[in-house]
Amino acid sequence: MSLLQALPSPDISSAVILCVVVVSLAHLVPYFVDPHGIHSYPGPFLAKFSDIWLGWTAAQGHRSERVHELHKKYGTFVRIAPNHLSISDPDALQVVYAHGNGTLKSEFYDAFVSIQRGLFNTRSRPDHARKRKIVSHIFSQKSVLEFEPNIRLHLTTLFKQWDRLCEGGLKSLSGDEGEGGWKGRDGRVWFDCLPWYNYLAFDIIGDLAFGAPFGMLIACKDSAPVATSQKDAIASYGQECKSKFDYFPAVQRFNTPTDRADLLGKLQEGRDEEGRPMGREELTAEALTQLIAGSDTTSNSSCALTYHLARNQDVQEKLQRELDDELGGEDDPVPTYEQVKRLPYLEAVINEALRIHSTSGIGLPRLVPAGGLIVCGREFPEGTVLSVPTYTIHRDPAIWGEDTEAFRPERWFEADKVAVQKTFNPFSFGPRSCVGRNLASLELLVIVASIFRRYHFVLEDPNADLETREGFLRKPLECRVGMMRRNV
Ligand code: HEM
Repeated sequence: MSLLQALPSPDISSAVILCVVVVSLAHLVPYFVDPHGIHSYPGPFLAKFSDIWLGWTAAQGHRSERVHELHKKYGTFVRIAPNHLSISDPDALQVVYAHGNGTLKSEFYDAFVSIQRGLFNTRSRPDHARKRKIVSHIFSQKSVLEFEPNIRLHLTTLFKQWDRLCEGGLKSLSGDEGEGGWKGRDGRVWFDCLPWYNYLAFDIIGDLAFGAPFGMLIACKDSAPVATSQKDAIASYGQECKSKFDYFPAVQRFNTPTDRADLLGKLQEGRDEEGRPMGREELTAEALTQLIAGSDTTSNSSCALTYHLARNQDVQEKLQRELDDELGGEDDPVPTYEQVKRLPYLEAVINEALRIHSTSGIGLPRLVPAGGLIVCGREFPEGTVLSVPTYTIHRDPAIWGEDTEAFRPERWFEADKVAVQKTFNPFSFGPRSCVGRNLASLELLVIVASIFRRYHFVLEDPNADLETREGFLRKPLECRVGMMRRNV
């Protein structure tokens, strides 16, 4: 082929040039016009002109770490997209996410819509207020205590399986090939604990939100028709969960009401201000929301906590001493919430795990409303997107001390309580904060207390870092441990 033949025809080349001009103008004009007045803020060069920088960074799976490095380099305000500023000042939390300041979830949340918008991804204020009114009383402390027996039941199943693993005999209770482990000469069983935390969290939330567990703990595998927990793509995740829902036998519950105490039953009973219940589509969307919001969050947090306790033997042993002192005479392998709700070291261990590995680590994006917003002394016009990165404020040395990368529950007894309360953000703040927080706290207390009372963990590789990948949530990729039954 001659050189002339290889060159694009005049028509094609003018189209290419036109495209380049249009794309460049689309990015350069907003930069120079600067409609959000954030031209002067520092950040990566590409982020000044285009969302490509943020999209590409997110796709690498380490957005929180990258944004954290930028804050170390540039300070409190970093421009991470043409109209998006990341603000790493804990004081900004109270403004950007506060009740009454009028910020709304940004377009970012449109990517999460599958059946119809649910409590988590609805962006309209009146729709959200209506849904939140129905859903919030379901998660009151009094209400979630009714779910405790379900949580304890699934933990008992987990222990049956892990005891068999320790005895070296497990494949699965159902007889299928399932998640196993291998037993070493030191009497420990060596395995990846992450899938088990997924089974536990999915069985608990399936039981509560859909009326029956998925049966993953019994099968020792992700026994739902489509594996969910390992897949990151948000859209396909929604579809998978939907197919789980379609498949799920407990869906008959819509037609056959029961008086069983669970999230689904309470959702069905819920009424808005006009006394109207949710329709079937809306109920489906909300049950799905709870499945998605309440599964990986709990399992990632439990897994990260196990990693840090296995890595920090002194902390694990101190926790075990507290549990032994408190629950010494107790025969039931799963303590009650009442027994563990006020154990100071247990609480500090859980808080420290949620600080260092906040599964929600990225700055959750909010749109500045009409009239603008003043944050940390700076004014931002309507339409600017603002976010406060949890990963970074959980590493603010002014609040937590210089050793922010160390897993040290003792810091919770030393730090300034008011400053900590203002900065500790695993469940977010304000009207869009985690509605399931009481349930999550109950689960974590009972799960951590009973697991660490019964078993002792070490890391397979004592120097291994906890590898993570972040989509919306920051998820551990695996956590290989050696586990042994304790003499309790
Ligand atoms: C350790 C466990 C958990 C953590 C760390 C966590 C964290 C969060 C965070 C940070 C948000 C705000 C998300 C945003 O603004 O984009 C949120 C919202 C939400 N969470 Fe949780 N969550 C946990 C467990 C749960 C559980 C168990 C449930 C329910 C079964 C739940 C249901 C929800 C719902 C429905 C929302 C949306 C609330 C709204 O927009 O009004 N979460 N959660």
